[in-house]
Amino acid sequence: MADTTIWIKIETKKADLRKKLDEIIHSIEGMKVQMPQDTRQDTLLIFEMGDDIDNEFQHIRSLLNSDEVAEVFLISKNSDPAVLMQAIKIGAKEFFLLPLKEEEVQQALEKFKEKWEKINRKKSPQLGKIITIFGCKGGVGATTVAVNLGVNLAQKESVKSVALIDMNMMFGEIPLFLELDPGYHWGEIVKNISRLDSTFLMNILAKHSSGVHVLPSPATLSDSRSAIPDMMSHLIGFMQKLFDFVIIDAGQFVDEISLKIMELSDNILLISLLSLPCISNANKILQSISELKTFPEERVKIVINRYLSKSDIPLDDAEESLHKKTFWTIPNDYSTTVSAINNGTPLYMAAPRAQITRSLNDLADTFVEKEENQKKWWQILTKH
Ligand SMILES: Nc1ncnc2c1ncn2[C@@H]1O[C@H](COP(=O)(O)OP(=O)(O)OP(=O)(O)O)[C@@H](O)[C@H]1O
Ligand SMILES: [Mg+2]
Repeated sequence: MADTTIWIKIETKKADLRKKLDEIIHSIEGMKVQMPQDTRQDTLLIFEMGDDIDNEFQHIRSLLNSDEVAEVFLISKNSDPAVLMQAIKIGAKEFFLLPLKEEEVQQALEKFKEKWEKINRKKSPQLGKIITIFGCKGGVGATTVAVNLGVNLAQKESVKSVALIDMNMMFGEIPLFLELDPGYHWGEIVKNISRLDSTFLMNILAKHSSGVHVLPSPATLSDSRSAIPDMMSHLIGFMQKLFDFVIIDAGQFVDEISLKIMELSDNILLISLLSLPCISNANKILQSISELKTFPEERVKIVINRYLSKSDIPLDDAEESLHKKTFWTIPNDYSTTVSAINNGTPLYMAAPRAQITRSLNDLADTFVEKEENQKKWWQILTKH
């Protein structure tokens, strides 16, 4: 597992200032101070300016230009606006005046950490993508989309591993959709969260022939109740390190756990039908997300399931009401989906040539690299 520590270098001649900065940095999880003799590349330099301003600015500029440090925070006793302007010009991200206000530094470090983790998450091959499937109402097809998106992703050449998590508390249906008889569920993990390691987790997951690993939901209320947002977030964060994709069937209930999961997700597919109650619910969900501001609303993508080109509510009207474009439409095909569900088979195996199967395969393609070749899909088509 890669070291995700954010290493920070402090350059100051004042021992008391170094001590104070050291304390602030160590109070933030995941941040550590680099020893002066340590030569590894640091992510952030906190630099206290002295009296040789021109030379110091030149030094900082060359560090930033050579990418030796990603960002620089400056500390100075000099409140001259010209110095501040110069600091901004050379690219310093923060400028703190002495005496140091601890809170200001702490906030700036937290902001830096958030940004750094976001960038690293995008770059890091170790962290998989989390895609949450959320139904804006019961029965709209959330599980159908989650299961088929998961198994379709697992067929892609560039995807090595996919996990499917069922968050439908007592009423999880993923095992039925995939004819699995799992022995364990995530309730067991959250009860033993301190024991969570890859061996324990991989032993608990049920493996489907498509290659997807399934983590079902507990079948009883008492087991479901052991979940709290922090534990689920720990579990999902852990799974993200082991799988290229973590697909979560989040059902349709907005609660603290589902909000936490959405917060962790790279994308949220909001499954809706072109019906008045669904559009109305989708509207409420989008509005709540934009009010809560815990994650950007752009992460939410509207997927219209059971789409018929001639419907009472045209797609344009729905989009106008939601103030959002539709990301995907999935054609209406009840007999194919229900037969696949009743046989416990994903669509790519049950009906590889059906339009709905194609649509769900193309949906999976939107989450993998463009150069993904379609060879495997053709192998599947000719096999089934
Ligand atoms: N594109 C589709 N066309 C026609 N029927 C569909 C489509 N997608 C799903 N269905 C049908 O809708 C029903 C509900 O699907 P599914 O169980 O996936 O929905 P859900 O949102 O997970 O429901 P629940 O709220 O019970 O968890 C199933 O009978 C399924 O066959
Ligand atoms: Mg469901």
